[in-house]
Amino acid sequence: MNKHLLSGLAMLLLTVVIISSCKERDYEIIEGRGITGINGMVVSAHPEASRIGTAILLDGGNAFDAAAAVAFALAVSYPAAGNLGGGSLMVIRDAEGNYSSLDCREKAPGLASRDMYLDESGNVIEGMSTGTLAASAVPGSVEGILELHSRFGILPLTKVIQPAINLARKGFSITAKQAESLNHARNRFIQRNDHPVPFVKDETWCEGDTLIQEDLARTLERICDYGRDGFYGGITADLIVAEMKKGNGLISHDDLDNYEAVWREPVIGTYGAYRIISMPPPSSGGIALMQLLGIMEEMLPEEPVFQSPEEVHLITEAERRVYADRSYYLGDPDYINIPVDELVSKEYLQERMSDFNPEKASLSEDISHGAIPAWEGEETTHFSVVDKDRNAIAFTTTLNSGYGNCIVVEGAGFLLNNEMDDFSSKPAYPNIYGLIGGEANSVQAGKRMLSSMTPTIIEKDQKLYMVLGSPGGSTIITSVFQTILNVIEYGMNMQEAVDAARFHHQWMPDLIYFEEKGADTLLIQKLEMMGHKTRLRSSIGRVDAIRILPEGSMEAGADPRGDDTACAF
Ligand code: GLY
Repeated sequence: MNKHLLSGLAMLLLTVVIISSCKERDYEIIEGRGITGINGMVVSAHPEASRIGTAILLDGGNAFDAAAAVAFALAVSYPAAGNLGGGSLMVIRDAEGNYSSLDCREKAPGLASRDMYLDESGNVIEGMSTGTLAASAVPGSVEGILELHSRFGILPLTKVIQPAINLARKGFSITAKQAESLNHARNRFIQRNDHPVPFVKDETWCEGDTLIQEDLARTLERICDYGRDGFYGGITADLIVAEMKKGNGLISHDDLDNYEAVWREPVIGTYGAYRIISMPPPSSGGIALMQLLGIMEEMLPEEPVFQSPEEVHLITEAERRVYADRSYYLGDPDYINIPVDELVSKEYLQERMSDFNPEKASLSEDISHGAIPAWEGEETTHFSVVDKDRNAIAFTTTLNSGYGNCIVVEGAGFLLNNEMDDFSSKPAYPNIYGLIGGEANSVQAGKRMLSSMTPTIIEKDQKLYMVLGSPGGSTIITSVFQTILNVIEYGMNMQEAVDAARFHHQWMPDLIYFEEKGADTLLIQKLEMMGHKTRLRSSIGRVDAIRILPEGSMEAGADPRGDDTACAF
């Protein structure tokens, strides 16, 4: 029996077990993939986190309490990307239809400077922006989660954090995929830490082993007791600064003390009858998504055919141009001017695709950013939550690479991000995702690095319709975009849309990436005949999504590429 069939059966069994063990409550909790629910739903990268969020909803919490609980729980149960030491972006729609977005992206430390990753000859120092203490920017997630909770939550903070504290202290059983991932990162943990870390044990990890994180439990308790001061001040701040001083780390007490999350106006656009609400800069996600959808609205045929060579070619050419714009125009809006309205305007997008040849691939080296008059110039995780009142939140959070820079703050038990690599270390030098950045995204003290995170909410007829997002570095944008097309244009249900094979082009390198599993040889041959260069990769994105069905119930799309699980009641 193949691996996927087995995991599908295990999921089904789990669903049945959960239903039958909850008969004593008024509600049945259902767990799995492709499930439906009425009263509340959480879809996240780890079953423990989805369960914790659902329990908060059952306890009378709203979607925002549940999101805060899930974010803290992922910091424990999904250390590859869930975090206290990283940053997050959120898009929110409350039950009355008001929107907002919260930017708690990490910031460059005060001592950071433009050429900090270059040697004396001006060459990029290999690995400095990813695998050293200098890779870490000032964490924003804790401030953001607390801000979200204090503004929109209705349960006390203790209720929201306690499940994560318990999970860290008592431990939880790791999944097969987590065991593989921790074993893969083992040498990095050993080389980069001068103290024992919970992610390394004498033997290799196996599915079902218990991961206990006592130091992390104490850090969470300090946040529970003292709020932001439990992380950005006091013992935790001392431990972070002490860790920095062991090497080339730059984060200071002042950086921590001064960190602020920012409420920003979301980027809003339309696609046919749908209203799309997504993340503004410092993420490139919302603008790029609006550009891609804007091009599709004009250029997709009346009766689209899923992954026909003509449509993959069209989508690829759109992605090529949109990612070239990303590289030139986008960065931290607090530091640079971004021509948002121009970039998403119909006229601009029409002009951008004016050299599109339906039969022949263009070359990325011939494609630059578009001209705007008078312009001055893999690892992340996402979860979606909707509650009974239809409050909704799309929440994407990151350490950048898997386990960030793999350095655990001694005594505090959490991993540090390597988000500084999302800046452009040097113009035209690719980051770990192969993304090329320009001046707009150069390193500067206090600046936020450009993100691709695309937490997104969609409305239809002024009502909540879909909540989604994805990890995957540069592939986040294309994963979210293609999942939306899969539902709206190709008629898939939420789970089918998430399961469907994805492809990705990001301008540079000039390649279309296809997922190994599900790659269609004939399609690839036809695209190569048009002049496209292609490459296979293991997987693209991990979308966790919720769609509201016409009769009012919700359906989940939990990505089978990971351990992603929906939980609903
Ligand atoms: N670190 C991935 C992103 O923010 O795009």
